[in-house]
Amino acid sequence: MFVVSVCSLKGGVGKTSVVLGLAAAARARGLTTLVVDLDPQGDATYALGVDAPGAVSADVLERPKRKVLGRAIVPAGWPRGNADLHVLPSSDATANLDRPDADGEQLHTLRTALGKLDYDLVLIDAPPSLSGLTRSALVASDRAVVVTEAGAFAVNAVTRLFAAIDEIRRTEAGGLQPLGIVLNRYKPSMAEQRAQRAALERAFGPLVLSPTLPDRAVVPKAQGARAPLDAMSGGAAALQGFELLLGRIERASRLTRRSDRRASASA
Ligand SMILES: Nc1ncnc2c1ncn2[C@@H]1O[C@H](COP(=O)(O)OP(=O)(O)OP(=O)(O)O)[C@@H](O)[C@H]1O
Ligand SMILES: [Mg+2]
Repeated sequence: MFVVSVCSLKGGVGKTSVVLGLAAAARARGLTTLVVDLDPQGDATYALGVDAPGAVSADVLERPKRKVLGRAIVPAGWPRGNADLHVLPSSDATANLDRPDADGEQLHTLRTALGKLDYDLVLIDAPPSLSGLTRSALVASDRAVVVTEAGAFAVNAVTRLFAAIDEIRRTEAGGLQPLGIVLNRYKPSMAEQRAQRAALERAFGPLVLSPTLPDRAVVPKAQGARAPLDAMSGGAAALQGFELLLGRIERASRLTRRSDRRASASA
């Protein structure tokens, strides 16, 4: 099982859209996937077609028990795909857990909970802040995908987030590493965006991932329709960028489908 957090300190840059795009790509690849919605806004929960969840991620953070996970995790409401896609949903109750002063033990509860599960891939949608929830997500993760737009404020936020990732790598026992920086809604025709991309590349080198993700009308459309990109007319081209990003994750993790692992174990 490989755990990937999608995060940024700035709101509205595309974290949830990247989680949903990766979930659609993982499903098309046949990976069993769990999306953990840690954002009290519940945008991923909504777009994955989950309504009125019983238990939510806040309950799991308070009591990381198999029983609570069993009550909280539900299948996504997307039309049937190639593989299981499940959701650990969020609600505004999750906000109560976003403590700025969360300590060591609290930061480890998500990691403890995920340790009881068996998916090929876990994608965590983090809220736009660096308090307890985002740090819990990072402590639980093998890799962090940092999402940004190519503007000065967003790029400054990337620098602050990398400092936090470094600190978690030094102080917590997990195997967290940055996977890279995704430039979302990138418009190469705009000189300021090209300049901000160049500044990011000077600071972070190959961690700035290529390709970038363009602005595509089908992205919000799919979210409004509560459907995966590949179910939308014109969605296949948008899905491609996420398939490439999933490929990076697969190479970082040597991810194999659970079905393939079973087949090779019984051979
Ligand atoms: N590549 C894209 N093309 C077109 N629209 C996009 C793209 N990425 C994101 N959006 C739209 O931008 C808005 C913000 O995106 P999203 O909700 O994914 O950001 P976020 O970082 O998760 O926000 P928050 O910080 O509030 O959680 C949404 O309406 C989404 O549909
Ligand atoms: Mg979001």
